[in-house]
Amino acid sequence: RLPEPFTLPLAVPPVLAPERRDDATDYYRIVQRVANASVLPGYSTPIWGYNGIFPGPTVVSNRARRTVVTHRNELPVPAVVHLHGGHVPEESDGYPTDLLYPVGGGMDAMGDTMGRPDPSAHTTIGERDYTYPGGQPAATLWYHDHRMDFTGPSVWRGLAGFHLVTDDAEQRLGLPSGVRDIPIMLADRAFDARGGFVYPALDPTSTHTPGVSGKFGRGVLGDVVLVNGVPWPAHRVDTARYRLRLLNASNARVYRLRFDRRGGSLPIVQIGSDGGLLARPQELTELTIAPGERYDVVADFSGCAVGEQVTVYNDLGAGTTTRVMRFEVAQQVTDTAVVPDRLTEFETLERRTAVATRRFAFRQGDAGGMRGWVINGHAYDPVTPIARPRLGEVEIWQVSTDLDHPIHLHLNQFQVLSRNGRAPLAADGGWKDTLYLTATGMAEIAVRFTDHAGRFVMHCHNLEHEDMAMMATFTTTAGIG
Ligand code: C2O
Ligand code: CU
Repeated sequence: RLPEPFTLPLAVPPVLAPERRDDATDYYRIVQRVANASVLPGYSTPIWGYNGIFPGPTVVSNRARRTVVTHRNELPVPAVVHLHGGHVPEESDGYPTDLLYPVGGGMDAMGDTMGRPDPSAHTTIGERDYTYPGGQPAATLWYHDHRMDFTGPSVWRGLAGFHLVTDDAEQRLGLPSGVRDIPIMLADRAFDARGGFVYPALDPTSTHTPGVSGKFGRGVLGDVVLVNGVPWPAHRVDTARYRLRLLNASNARVYRLRFDRRGGSLPIVQIGSDGGLLARPQELTELTIAPGERYDVVADFSGCAVGEQVTVYNDLGAGTTTRVMRFEVAQQVTDTAVVPDRLTEFETLERRTAVATRRFAFRQGDAGGMRGWVINGHAYDPVTPIARPRLGEVEIWQVSTDLDHPIHLHLNQFQVLSRNGRAPLAADGGWKDTLYLTATGMAEIAVRFTDHAGRFVMHCHNLEHEDMAMMATFTTTAGIG
């Protein structure tokens, strides 16, 4: 009863209109609620959605302005909203214990922070304002639930959406825009016989039984690849360049994407990574994208004939998950979009300027009596920081893995210095906030946290690993002088 691949049209999430604007700020409102979505033809899928849709509405911020998003929680569980990739103060970052309880409370039934009390948690009932100060460069960010121990099931049920930052410099570049600038959210799901999402945990509204067990210890996978919530969609394109903002919002699945056309592959040009534009575009023939990562690419269909098809395959998939989506070239046009040789400029974080080196080992381990995933031997503890970097200082962080882990830092993007003692991969360029390391990998990254003193987290973005304690707090402190 699954649809034939490439028969359903691609959906693009609606751009959210602000409730109001003043001189410096745009104000938005999002209601998190239970809803029914049409995902598989002929079925209705219960979801948890931002404004009741999956993916949630796209928020578009201008770098020069402040954005305030008021979230109202009408779900049956507490929520936490994290702006992934956002450079924001701690109270708006979505710290995992800063719970937004449902309207009407229900706090007693919820307990507080799942048996691990966190005296510093800023909890709220019903509604909460998340304030994003702006100032960061144009980038493809996303927002998703981040509740301690329950991010996996919450995101699986639909709590994820795009948040794009734009600025004047980006708009002057002449990149593909409008209907030729498309956010592409990849997320795999499994379905039950009635069309519902299947998540292999106990009661999804539980506040006491986090994580998954047994064969799901490496994360929850589905057999259906959704693109913007549509199974294996097709999209009709013109003979033109398209900007595709690829986001892997899957809980655990990693994709290696290849754009296949008859007789070869369509090269794609990477123009940006997690934190914004690259200095220069670079051509790639395939692209590995792990949970949490974004790659901003331009696919050029101008050399295609009308009627030609370009199919996006996942070379890490098996069976139904080898296919992702298809582009069907439908119309001949004259395209004026360009990809300039220079996209932006940014500072390189120099190794020699680093004031400290820290090591973080991502390993299987004991998470409070259950088999889990830990960092430097510690299961996530919201109270005790693992590091206290000073704002403004460059540090080298050496991160290493036992198995595959996409490693994510909040607050600031970083730059990749090395992988396994060698030069980084081509796709590691620019400002990253999530870095995929395969088994027994090691990478050195240059980090520099800025502006916001407070507590933030680093964690594995395999959401089941995150829920099974592969997360740590770091506290940024003001520099001396
Ligand atoms: Cu996308 Cu800490 O998360
Ligand atoms: Cu992991």
